[in-house]
Amino acid sequence: MKILGKFPSTRLRRVRNSDWVRRLISENNLSVNDLILPIFLREGKNKIEKIKSMPGINRYSLDRLTNVLDKAEDFKIPMIALFPYTPNSKKNKNGSEALNENNLVCRAIRAIKKKYKDFGIMTDVALDPYTSHGHDGVIINNKIDNDETLKLLEKQAILQASMGSDVIAPSDMMDGRIGLIRKSLDKHKLKDIKILSYAVKYASNFYGPFRDAVGSKKKLKGNKKTYQMDIRNYNEAFREVGLDIKEGADFVMVKPGMPYLDIISLIKQNFKVPVFSYQVSGEYAMIVNAIKNKNLDQNAIYESLISLKRAGSNAIVTYFALDIAKKINSN
Ligand code: PBG
Repeated sequence: MKILGKFPSTRLRRVRNSDWVRRLISENNLSVNDLILPIFLREGKNKIEKIKSMPGINRYSLDRLTNVLDKAEDFKIPMIALFPYTPNSKKNKNGSEALNENNLVCRAIRAIKKKYKDFGIMTDVALDPYTSHGHDGVIINNKIDNDETLKLLEKQAILQASMGSDVIAPSDMMDGRIGLIRKSLDKHKLKDIKILSYAVKYASNFYGPFRDAVGSKKKLKGNKKTYQMDIRNYNEAFREVGLDIKEGADFVMVKPGMPYLDIISLIKQNFKVPVFSYQVSGEYAMIVNAIKNKNLDQNAIYESLISLKRAGSNAIVTYFALDIAKKINSN
């Protein structure tokens, strides 16, 4: 691209010198329409439990969910994402609690759908909150078995959709799950259910606090490198997204967010599909702790989110959703 103009006839500071002109030429903006609010669920009654590794974020028992859901509704946040903390007694090798229609997530979907009509509900398809080994799939001969896992993921997806989940979000990174889930949804007359594929999910170090939040951290043996993407790779993201779109995904996710801005931009520019990004728990913890320690100013939150928009995200899953929505609404 040819750069036009020459100093002194051209002065870029001229279009930066007051707030109104900066607002006028701003190329990207963050609105509440861009926000997806993750919520951690727990068993019990009247419980709001702090998550140590994620200051400011809680696990809620179902009867206390109104605390966050009323705010989400008031702020007009378009979608929430549910994540369960499963007690150890309900975990096993194959994560069978994932298929229990009275598990925490299923009960939450039913209860929320009854009361709240204005936002979509997204649910995670993966076995890791339910397995005794903390992996997203079933282990056969010491390996995460792709095709055996698919059978369970398909059932988990259909169960969640039939409970009222609007967006099925497979975060497991097994091969072929999008096509299988799409086919099965069609077969079950659930053709309006949307699939948000975690198409590009890296084997990242930034998920630590989340694993603590859902109680899989201490359980996890080894790492997730045989199914999540290699953090060194770029081109492979094309293949993951291409396959998932062909298989029937409506939206694709890039995860984590800020360390992978190049990937968000790559996917947006090449596929022209809705691209979501996930500002994950480790990113949240880094920023929150730096603010707490007075190393960073509050405004770093907005900057982190606008960077994801600038890279090409349509929407962002962020633990800052309520804080930032409040700020946007008060401006
Ligand atoms: C599980 C899942 C993970 C996250 C969302 N779904 C963790 C993992 O893959 O280990 C991470 C989210 C976060 O760190 O905020 N399939």
